Amino acid sequence: MFIMGSSSMRIAAIVFYLCFLTFATFHNCFCNGNSSIVCSKTEKQALLKFKQDLKDPSNRLSSWAGDDCCQWSGVVCDNFTGHVHEIHLDNADCNYNGNYPEYEACWLYHHLRYLDLSNAGFSRAIPHQLGNLTMMRYLDLSRNSVFLQGTFPEIELHLRGDNLHWVLGLLSLQPLDMSLVNLSTAVDWLEGISTFPSLVELHLAECDLKYSSPSTTINFTSIHILDFSVNYFGPSIPKWIFSLNHLVSLDISGWNFYGPIPNGIKNITSLKEFYASGNNLNSPLPKELFNLKDLVSLGLSFNNFQGSIPIGLLNMTSLRDLDLSNNFFTSLPNGLLSSLRCLELVILNQNHLQLQGVISGAIGNLTSLISLDMSHNQVEGNIPRSLGKLCKLKTIDLSYNKLGGEHSSKSRYRVT
Ligand SMILES: *[C@@H]1O[C@H](CO)[C@@H](O)[C@H](O)[C@H]1NC(C)=O
Ligand SMILES: *[C@@H]1O[C@H](CO)[C@@H](O)[C@H](O)[C@H]1NC(C)=O
Ligand SMILES: *[C@@H]1O[C@H](CO)[C@@H](O)[C@H](O)[C@H]1NC(C)=O
Ligand SMILES: *[C@@H]1O[C@H](CO)[C@@H](O)[C@H](O)[C@H]1NC(C)=O
Ligand SMILES: *[C@@H]1O[C@H](CO)[C@@H](O)[C@H](O)[C@H]1NC(C)=O
Ligand SMILES: *[C@@H]1O[C@H](CO)[C@@H](O)[C@H](O)[C@H]1NC(C)=O
Ligand SMILES: *[C@@H]1O[C@H](CO)[C@@H](O)[C@H](O)[C@H]1NC(C)=O
Ligand SMILES: *[C@@H]1O[C@H](CO)[C@@H](O)[C@H](O)[C@H]1NC(C)=O
Repeated sequence: MFIMGSSSMRIAAIVFYLCFLTFATFHNCFCNGNSSIVCSKTEKQALLKFKQDLKDPSNRLSSWAGDDCCQWSGVVCDNFTGHVHEIHLDNADCNYNGNYPEYEACWLYHHLRYLDLSNAGFSRAIPHQLGNLTMMRYLDLSRNSVFLQGTFPEIELHLRGDNLHWVLGLLSLQPLDMSLVNLSTAVDWLEGISTFPSLVELHLAECDLKYSSPSTTINFTSIHILDFSVNYFGPSIPKWIFSLNHLVSLDISGWNFYGPIPNGIKNITSLKEFYASGNNLNSPLPKELFNLKDLVSLGLSFNNFQGSIPIGLLNMTSLRDLDLSNNFFTSLPNGLLSSLRCLELVILNQNHLQLQGVISGAIGNLTSLISLDMSHNQVEGNIPRSLGKLCKLKTIDLSYNKLGGEHSSKSRYRVT
């Protein structure tokens, strides 16, 4: 016996009701002599009908009552026309209970700009009719899943997409987040979205994406943020990624890539965040990486990088967060822990760092430092007093090293 949230039906129903909203005819603001906008009766009834078919254990939608749906929580209207422009049902914790006819006349609906249904417990398939909401600028369907109760082991069903062709209808879309949506059967997902003119932000983390070489030119002309993490593509990083030279943030963690970081990385000079943790990347860090002078966050943990951390790293003077933990690095460049003054978070644990006196008194120069983890290395020397000058420092872990004599072998130095 199990209960299944028929979440695609819920999305379908939302789309269905959104379609109703289209037929809203008048705007009370022009009729009641009051300058405040009130939503139309049709739109209100559509939303109420939708609410009726939701379980709402946390009473999230308790404000969905009364005349003016523009005042309801999660509903935002256009101030001038009174049309519902935004629906925020993220973290809604409500199960769709109804059984509605398939979408009708959705193409008439042109008003909705913003739809956030993230983490709201949907599963099953995404209705392609969402692609008819042509004014949509923001769409978040991420982190939707439902647990089948009473099964052992417990089964978690994710929201599914069998293709991404419908997305092409959303001509104004800027951020699209479908992280944790199961796209394993959407084989041509890349071609589906790669010519998208407006997309600025794309999150497809943990989507079970199947990678195949694109047959068309990849032309994400406007994309700034690309998160493809945890999709197990392997074995090598696709070349087209390095042609996206407007990228500001790139996350290709957890792809099972082998080999070195390709030289092409130097082309993405606008990059501020680069994450490639949890791959099988090896060899020393390439000098092309240090071309990225504006990089603020670098995450390369859980790879097989070897050798010295190159001196070029000191050229990345904007660096704030550095995570090189769980690799096979053997040494740090002199001055890393003193000249990169923006550093706030430094994670270097679980390497083979073997330097003597690598933590010098000059660490006192890193006045922004909040957290330092160098545990499980072979660092020797004494712990410098100048650490006491770092007034933002919250945690420091130097355990499992050869610092300050034997007593440090297991102790954790923590400043709070
Ligand atoms: C206008 O609307 C506001 C809020 O909805 C209400 O408080 C006010 O009394 C209304 N004024 C008139 C003249 O109807
Ligand atoms: C609409 O009005 C609300 C409340 O007066 C205001 O907070 C909001 O910024 C306005 N929105 C726009 C787009 O003007
Ligand atoms: C609405 O969506 C359906 C399903 O994706 C599609 O077949 C239809 O052409 C769309 N209508 C318009 C006007 O975009
Ligand atoms: C995704 O869907 C496919 C087929 O529908 C299924 O075999 C697979 O287990 C699903 N993946 C996850 C992570 O649920
Ligand atoms: C890429 O997109 C730009 C702008 O939308 C367009 O001018 C150009 O022709 C496209 N190139 C290809 C190969 O599709
Ligand atoms: C990097 O940029 C150079 C010069 O613009 C170009 O020739 C090369 O093909 C680019 N590399 C990649 C991998 O896109
Ligand atoms: C670091 O910057 C200096 C000065 O701009 C330059 O000469 C050097 O080649 C750079 N090193 C690397 C590895 O990029
Ligand atoms: C640390 O700061 C002092 C002055 O505050 C400066 O003289 C010294 O060169 C700095 N050390 C490094 C390694 O940047």
